[in-house]
Amino acid sequence: MKKIIITGGAGFIGSHVVRRFVTRYPDVHVYNLDALTYAGNLENLKDIDHLPNYTFLKENITDVSRMQVLISEIQPDGLIHLAAESHVDRSIADPMAFVKTNVIGTVNLLNACRDAWKDRYHETLFYHISTDEVYGTLGDTGLFTETTPYDPNSPYSASKAASDHFVRAYGETYGLRYIVTNCSNNYGPFQFPEKLIPLFINNIIHKKPLPVYGDGLYTRDWLYVIDHAIAIDLVYHHGKNHETYNIGGFNEWKNIDLVRLLCKLMDKKLGRPEGTSENLITFVKDRPGHDRRYAIDASKIKRELGWEPSVTFEQGLSETIDWYLNNTEWLQNVTSGTYQRYYEDMYKNR
Ligand code: NAD
Ligand code: DAU
Repeated sequence: MKKIIITGGAGFIGSHVVRRFVTRYPDVHVYNLDALTYAGNLENLKDIDHLPNYTFLKENITDVSRMQVLISEIQPDGLIHLAAESHVDRSIADPMAFVKTNVIGTVNLLNACRDAWKDRYHETLFYHISTDEVYGTLGDTGLFTETTPYDPNSPYSASKAASDHFVRAYGETYGLRYIVTNCSNNYGPFQFPEKLIPLFINNIIHKKPLPVYGDGLYTRDWLYVIDHAIAIDLVYHHGKNHETYNIGGFNEWKNIDLVRLLCKLMDKKLGRPEGTSENLITFVKDRPGHDRRYAIDASKIKRELGWEPSVTFEQGLSETIDWYLNNTEWLQNVTSGTYQRYYEDMYKNR
């Protein structure tokens, strides 16, 4: 039986990737390796955790001896690496946590794979999930391609950029087979409500202010998370060794336009008079080092692997809102306790 380790599988994107691999490939054993930080939640996988080809491992990727032992014992055929500290605002408050997990944790995994796979590099793959933020910021025009120079601006994107460089260096130096993908902003079910869309959905439900950073004219390229999981599946099975693929939604939105659309859709779904949620919009102090615009040129993955987004933004956003409205218990569980403290600390000086 083939085996695959997916790190960060209890998080937002990771849980969609785990679900896809476990259900689509019953003859592949999927090991979900996750430390269950504030962002990891086994509730995200309760529909599939009974399946015989799934095992959860509560482990920290920064643990040197555990990664060495586990990866050499399991001898996976591939590893898809999603575990990371992923929120830009938290990286501004505590950069070292991002260095530890995103840089040191990744190098630790690379060492463990290099050692475990030393006699069988040719039949293994280290697939590293990265972000478009490593490319820095765009002006009003242009798109990030696979050859855009790295120019990260936040501690988060600097830590992701460093991890990408290490993956490539291990490919060149030790011959490790690897692929890196750099994706744009994801949205969808199970996203922790610290990121723009789920945070604003939660605030709209509770009629709390919607804190739009700066002038609200920052632009992001949004992709439905299931389309990202489909792309990861394709790249894992058909991507070329030592290649990079950009993944994006062909779907740019200025934050303020997206927030207004969200308000409109939610007023309709909640049966509130139009304009109710828009009145909650509050412009607040900007994020330091805030990248003005991200937009991905995803033509390489489209051309070489035939991937493109399958869901329109209007469809995806509507389904996402419905999911949060139908899963209030999930939302309540993740927003109780420490979330309240996080929210007060993060937004008190804005
Ligand atoms: P997330 O924060 O929702 O989940 C991260 C997961 O990693 C959690 O389950 C957490 O418990 C786990 N984790 C964190 N530190 C760990 C450690 N030291 N050891 C083991 N597990 C640990 O993140 P996400 O939004 O799902 O992002 C997943 C990956 O995709 C990240 O690498 C991120 O950089 C990348 N990415 C995210 C987006 C996005 O829009 N969310 C876009 C492009 C790329
Ligand atoms: O581009 C890919 C990246 O997208 C991923 O690598 C990151 O893991 C992911 O967090 C995301 O980063 P962003 O910083 O773009 O996402 P976030 O949801 O934090 O913010 C989206 C935009 O909304 C950004 O311009 C900042 C703004 N924003 C965000 C929050 C949380 C606000 O205006 N108010 C807010 O309260």
